Amino acid sequence: MGEEGAADGAGVVVEEGAADRANVMGAEEVRGSCDACSDVQKIAAFCHAEDITVLVDEAHGAHLGLHPELPASALQQGADVVIQSTHKVLSSMTQSAMLHLQGPRVSPERIARSLQVLQSSSPSYVLMASLDAARVQVHADSSTFLEQAVRAAAEARQQLALVPGLRVLGSEVVGSFGVTDIDPTRVTISTEALELTGYEVDDALEELGIAAEIAGLHCITFAFSGGSTLEDARALGAAVHSLLPPRKAARSTGSDWSLETKTTSDAAATAAAAPPPLAQQVLPPREAFFAPTERVPAEQASGRVAAELLCSYPPGIPAVAPGEELTAAVILYLQNVLQAGGRVSGATDASLATFEVILRKCVHDAKAQR
Ligand SMILES: Cc1ncc(COP(=O)(O)O)c(C=O)c1O
Repeated sequence: MGEEGAADGAGVVVEEGAADRANVMGAEEVRGSCDACSDVQKIAAFCHAEDITVLVDEAHGAHLGLHPELPASALQQGADVVIQSTHKVLSSMTQSAMLHLQGPRVSPERIARSLQVLQSSSPSYVLMASLDAARVQVHADSSTFLEQAVRAAAEARQQLALVPGLRVLGSEVVGSFGVTDIDPTRVTISTEALELTGYEVDDALEELGIAAEIAGLHCITFAFSGGSTLEDARALGAAVHSLLPPRKAARSTGSDWSLETKTTSDAAATAAAAPPPLAQQVLPPREAFFAPTERVPAEQASGRVAAELLCSYPPGIPAVAPGEELTAAVILYLQNVLQAGGRVSGATDASLATFEVILRKCVHDAKAQR
């Protein structure tokens, strides 16, 4: 990986020396929430000037650009390839998504050939029909469908602002963290005032019949769509209010969204610190995937080569992948995320008391062959 932040804070990470160069990025993301938008326009302009293709993971943004109050979509901002999970905010069926292409940088034939390697030869017409129906719904009726989402989310912001001390992510973050806009249909709160982690708030709200979009250590995000109502928004406000500790002090007006300052436990404090440094690759992923493995206790796993892809969610970025070194820092980070109430996906031992690693002899032989 090369120059980070080369586009003046826009967060571009450019892979250097690759014959075919592409910048792959998420369009909406900030510290565990999914309502803050990156400066795709600036990043695309920077990359295109360097003849770099821009691929955007716009999983949470299929609705962007389709209503006057919504930020522009990645396509509108000049990205070459954009993948949207149409099923998330719009109303197609789960597992359906759209891949959009524009401009001359990526050939549709090449994309089709690549998809052939990955896809079933028996496409689901049910899923494709649901994509088409979602497209018709949002285009034929965007004034009501998305308007309802925007209005319900605005009501939720108002209700949540009434909870003493509760901070609701808003336009104050625009200009920081590479954020250029806020998606008004997503509402993120800091759970600091509730003296709970985001995971604990998520569990408590689930008991009350409210499902959040995503929970992190110190914040939780709620998604509003065409199916959301003002009553839903008010119920959310009341439910969050009910979680407030009775003795809660006066309202805080701070706007610091950095995580390090807000902790509810030692484990949360450690997990909230920056994730561990990028793991060193020891074996290529394919070799690692097919290599013989063994299970070792966590205390003996440091320095071994991982056989699993271990990922805390959020942020949804693997801390270690097959073929990479499992360091003490990675192990501690993942265990702390778990202890603080977070989720680590990919671990065959969900308790993280043991780890699946590649046999030492195999690693040794693979190194010797190079
Ligand atoms: C940023 C991001 N990209 C991709 C995905 C995967 O999308 P899908 O569930 O449609 O495969 C998710 C899922 O939540 C996501 O958050």
